[in-house]
Amino acid sequence: MAQIGTDIDAARAFLEAGQVVGIPTETVYGLAANALDPDAVLTIFQVKNRPAFDPLIVHTDSLDKAATLVTYFPDAARHLAEAFWPGPLTLLLPKHDRIPDLVTSGLSTVAVRVPNHPLTLSLLRSLTFPLAAPSANPFGYISPTTAQHVADQLGDRVPYILDGGPAQVGLESTIIGFDNDVPTVFRLGGMAVEQIERVIGPVQVRTHSTSNPQAPGMLSSHYAPRKPLTLLKPGQQPDLGELIGGLVFQKLLPGIPAERQRILSPSGDMTEAAKNLFAYLRALDTLDVVRLYAELLPNVGLGRAINDRLRRAAA
Ligand code: TXA
Ligand code: MG
Repeated sequence: MAQIGTDIDAARAFLEAGQVVGIPTETVYGLAANALDPDAVLTIFQVKNRPAFDPLIVHTDSLDKAATLVTYFPDAARHLAEAFWPGPLTLLLPKHDRIPDLVTSGLSTVAVRVPNHPLTLSLLRSLTFPLAAPSANPFGYISPTTAQHVADQLGDRVPYILDGGPAQVGLESTIIGFDNDVPTVFRLGGMAVEQIERVIGPVQVRTHSTSNPQAPGMLSSHYAPRKPLTLLKPGQQPDLGELIGGLVFQKLLPGIPAERQRILSPSGDMTEAAKNLFAYLRALDTLDVVRLYAELLPNVGLGRAINDRLRRAAA
């Protein structure tokens, strides 16, 4: 079973030996390995049971280091990095030859980000290589927001999980690319589109559900609990004829016992809702019910990313 702890030196030793380690970030926990070592990267795919066509994000601790992983850093990307790194934003940029093809699934771009977590930033500073890391969940399941979530599902397959407490953002990073210098969001996430637009002006959003894996992280079914999940528009009522659980935004649904419901944010705070989303979905998934219902949020700010995750979880 994985050891869970806060020992950066232990984590570093495993990573230097080519092994995979669970790491905390502000978004979700990652399953990290040396991004420059194809054998270590292959282990990530095996541990996660991830198809090789789904590329990984490369994590580093500074904009300067990120710049050594790519061949071109458009101005818009640089402005975003300066404004939001460390933070929940991933940039797709033309890949340097140093990055193994396995990391990018053969694509000509590499996804890079500087995560905002003190433990992981210290770890990255102490390493001579960047870390490739997908979310630390079995492929297709809900992303982990605590070290225990990682241990519950992958504990028998990794030697060490660095425990940085519950993830503060709770949604994966927003992914943005710059093909032909047109900023395009490919995955909604912890950085709201409105915030991005305040820095670089209007961006395209292209996150349509698809079964075509070329579109980044946009498989139509993903982030899914094991129980069937049905979405409710605001104000819509569930079918009370079966034993159900509910994930609601601000207040309990009538007709379902409180212990079978989770409230994302009683005060209607999207940031709080995002932080609770995955942990609550996991908790509901363990209940003795036949179906889960989840209420959609207003489609603004982080609500847009939360609704995106709920739609995929329900697909
Ligand atoms: O917040 C996050 O981004 C977390 C933490 C651990 O950093 N990581 C994460 O990784 O969510 P993952 O692997 O679960 O999702 C990364 C997504 C994948 O869906 C992948 O398709 C996309 O990023 N991606 C990675 N490299 C890409 C590339 N070169 N072009 C297009 N999409 C890419
Ligand atoms: Mg993932």
